[in-house]
Amino acid sequence: MSEVRKAVQKLYNTYPFPPDPLMDEPPSGYNWRWHYQSAYNFCTGIKPNQDKVRILDAGCGTGSGTEYLMLHNPHAEIMAIDISEKALETAQKRIDKSGILKEFKGSITFKQMPLETAVTLEGTFDLINCVGVLHHLPDPDAGIKALAEKLAVGGIMHIFVYGELGRWEIQLMQNAIAILQGDKRGDYVDGVKVGRDIFASLPPENRLVKREKERWQWENKRDESFADMYVHPCETDYNLNTLFEFIESSGLEFIGFSNPDIWQIERLLSNNSDLMSRAKELTEKQRYRLIELLDPENITHYEFFLAKAPLTKHTWQDDNVLKQAKPELNPCLFGWPSKNLLDYQFKPVVIDDADFVFMEHCAKNTSGELTVADILNQVNYSLDQTRSLIEKQLIMLNLQD
Ligand SMILES: C[S@@+](CC[C@H](N)C(=O)[O-])C[C@H]1O[C@@H](n2cnc3c(N)ncnc32)[C@H](O)[C@@H]1O
Repeated sequence: MSEVRKAVQKLYNTYPFPPDPLMDEPPSGYNWRWHYQSAYNFCTGIKPNQDKVRILDAGCGTGSGTEYLMLHNPHAEIMAIDISEKALETAQKRIDKSGILKEFKGSITFKQMPLETAVTLEGTFDLINCVGVLHHLPDPDAGIKALAEKLAVGGIMHIFVYGELGRWEIQLMQNAIAILQGDKRGDYVDGVKVGRDIFASLPPENRLVKREKERWQWENKRDESFADMYVHPCETDYNLNTLFEFIESSGLEFIGFSNPDIWQIERLLSNNSDLMSRAKELTEKQRYRLIELLDPENITHYEFFLAKAPLTKHTWQDDNVLKQAKPELNPCLFGWPSKNLLDYQFKPVVIDDADFVFMEHCAKNTSGELTVADILNQVNYSLDQTRSLIEKQLIMLNLQD
């Protein structure tokens, strides 16, 4: 095993991450990025035809995300891998304690192995989740390539990696701790102590202290989080340009950011029509770069979906195709039945009476008996109104017989 990987393994054996407490019940709520149907719908505009999917959680840590994968995909075959045996032990304890195994009808396997050797795993995966891991590999390109090889054709991959602009103060602090640790680098308990002492010693108006207080302090109360942030032995931070080089190295298709709201130029320039029309002329990548240059402190990470082509996207512009589709509610929705809902991203949405009535029919359509045309024959609603619900991802459609 490489020296760097050993150092990373030692960090997570000392401080397994995430330090979420073990609970007596399965998690509540939802995270649509881990819900295969909802995530596939986001990527393609259509509900997938299958729910007995194969999922790889690459670098699962203590299993908080893995448990959500189980909760949202109760018929899936899930493989969760990590290099830290301590993190894996906690992950196993987490699912044993919460009782999720009683509800889960699929299979779950935890395995200690580096994701760079994923090629040795049997078969391919429909969904690969890799959150907070690739930026800790000595060679992230090799890691993403290994995962890309295991993605099924038409499969989707969710990735989260760090961004350099919003982590500038973190990088400075990491370097400062390393200098003061000297020969003790690699002693992570000492690193946490040195880091906490530095913060306690710096004046309150110091930039590093201010950033820690305004942005990270709450999560960094736990030493596991503090260590993960400030005393990591291996970290690559990206900017938009290096991110897209990284994505290109995978050979996969970029589908879109999974926090799309932050990547809207309107939120920064909408009060100047000339700047907005100039921004509209840019390529998608140039526009994203502009956003991070103008709003650096908010770009602390990149989270996005990639896919292995071909992945057909549905826009539902053809009236006849839309009429034949079978609609149902997006399972990642909070507050239904009500006209005040939280959507898949937990954003408040208010729907009107007509939307509500149409959605009531969708909610009952779990076995897919009714097409959009069938429902429109019963209610006063239009195809364009239906398209608006699709766009907001309040409903999803399929074309299955
Ligand atoms: C920051 S934690 C993220 C855990 C989890 N994905 C989450 O988001 O909650 C990073 C995890 O990646 C694991 N890891 C680091 N390098 C790895 C590698 N080469 N192969 C597999 N896992 C690795 C670490 O052991 C650690 O548990």
